[in-house]
Amino acid sequence: MDVIRIKGGRSLKGSVTLAGSKNAALPLMAATLLTDQPCTLSNVPDLSDTCYMAEILEHLGAKVERLDAHTWRITAQHIIASAPYELVSKMRAAVCLMGPLVGRLRRADVSLPGGCIIGPRPIDIHLKGFAKLGCEVVVQNGCVRVKALNLRGANLFLGGRHGSTVTGTENLLMAAVRTPGITCIESAACEPEVEDLCRMLVTMGAKIKGIGSPTLLVEGVDRLEGCVHRVIPDRIEAGTYILAAAITGGDVVLNNIEPRHISALRDKLAQIGLPIEEKGPSQLHIAASNNTLQATDIITLPYPGFPTDLQAQMCALMSVTPGLSIITERIYPGRSMHISELQRMGADIAVESPNIIIKGGRHLSGAPVRASDLRASAALILAGLAADGETWVQGVTHLDRGYEGLVPKLQALGADIERVPEESMPSLL
Ligand code: EPZ
Repeated sequence: MDVIRIKGGRSLKGSVTLAGSKNAALPLMAATLLTDQPCTLSNVPDLSDTCYMAEILEHLGAKVERLDAHTWRITAQHIIASAPYELVSKMRAAVCLMGPLVGRLRRADVSLPGGCIIGPRPIDIHLKGFAKLGCEVVVQNGCVRVKALNLRGANLFLGGRHGSTVTGTENLLMAAVRTPGITCIESAACEPEVEDLCRMLVTMGAKIKGIGSPTLLVEGVDRLEGCVHRVIPDRIEAGTYILAAAITGGDVVLNNIEPRHISALRDKLAQIGLPIEEKGPSQLHIAASNNTLQATDIITLPYPGFPTDLQAQMCALMSVTPGLSIITERIYPGRSMHISELQRMGADIAVESPNIIIKGGRHLSGAPVRASDLRASAALILAGLAADGETWVQGVTHLDRGYEGLVPKLQALGADIERVPEESMPSLL
């Protein structure tokens, strides 16, 4: 098992090119099951999660060809409806296989995604939607069996107590595009990843209106064709590097970004004293060397609100920003496993769920810390970049799920960071 060693105190300088979006690529890969024709996806991030998804598609019977590190061609000519537990249980996003399997085969057997460290991950809204589309939904032995008895268009409402559901919208959209009749999806998620999926489905011949809005109108079609589609850039990776530049007082140019996808972060950073300049249609410049930031309050919300996937990274930045900051986590109230690790580094931070209270401005000190989930590991690396001394981040398998080449990209920006075997961690720590 590897660990990541960081020696803090260096300001990041230079430029970094973003990878494709993990949270767009995974449903896009699942959507290839909707046709028996070849689908070529480019700009797919090279991650353990995308490799897991490829493995699952292969198990389902699809022909999966990796044309290069970021390009896959998937042809789902003859497929089965049962996804393997041992693979699905590794990756929650596999839940979005249900929709295309129902759309294509009129049935799906997928193991229930467990909860995870950020909190319970229910799929009740997904299942209610399938039932409304005329499916029989049985949850048994940790598996969800969805069988279309009389699949027909319906009016679906996807709002829950924490807003809409991203993969729920994706799942039901992928079923609806091949469901006879008209399906109206109200309170649909508006995340850019949902929009990207809509656009690919339309190139495959799907009939979808209201793309990018909370109301999607879908007219089912009998068949869909193959496609060639480029995955959108990863807005959460973008936000992570922006916050890495901010926390180190750096000067960084981000390439291959869609600026409108991170408006909430840019707005918040401008409010606290760090305006981000657009240098080109897909380029942002963060010049944080002379900025003193102010404390603030943030509420995480569904898109276009402040993304929950940047909450942990923001906690790291606000820990070193003088003043009282309060971050309210509205999407996953339990998303706070990073707090105790930041406390180990000297942050004055506490949780009164769903609020995180940060008395910022302390100098963080390097320490051995353990990542608990994908975004917490990014937050601990950001804290390590700013801390005095060495930080050893354990649990890097989480990082491999969602950040392509984080260590080499940060090294190229001048960070003193390396990935080393766990044995090289000093025993005195
Ligand atoms: C997607 O998860 C993302 N994952 C998450 O990113 C992201 O944090 C989340 O959306 C919110 O933006 C992928 O796209 C693969 P939800 P998803 O269904 O779809 C509740 C990362 O780090 N809910 O939108 O699983 C749920 O408990 C990951 O990249 C129900 O109550 O999230 C949560 O509180 C983490 N019933 C809220 O809604 C349901 O049926 C949002 O969940 C579904 C969800």
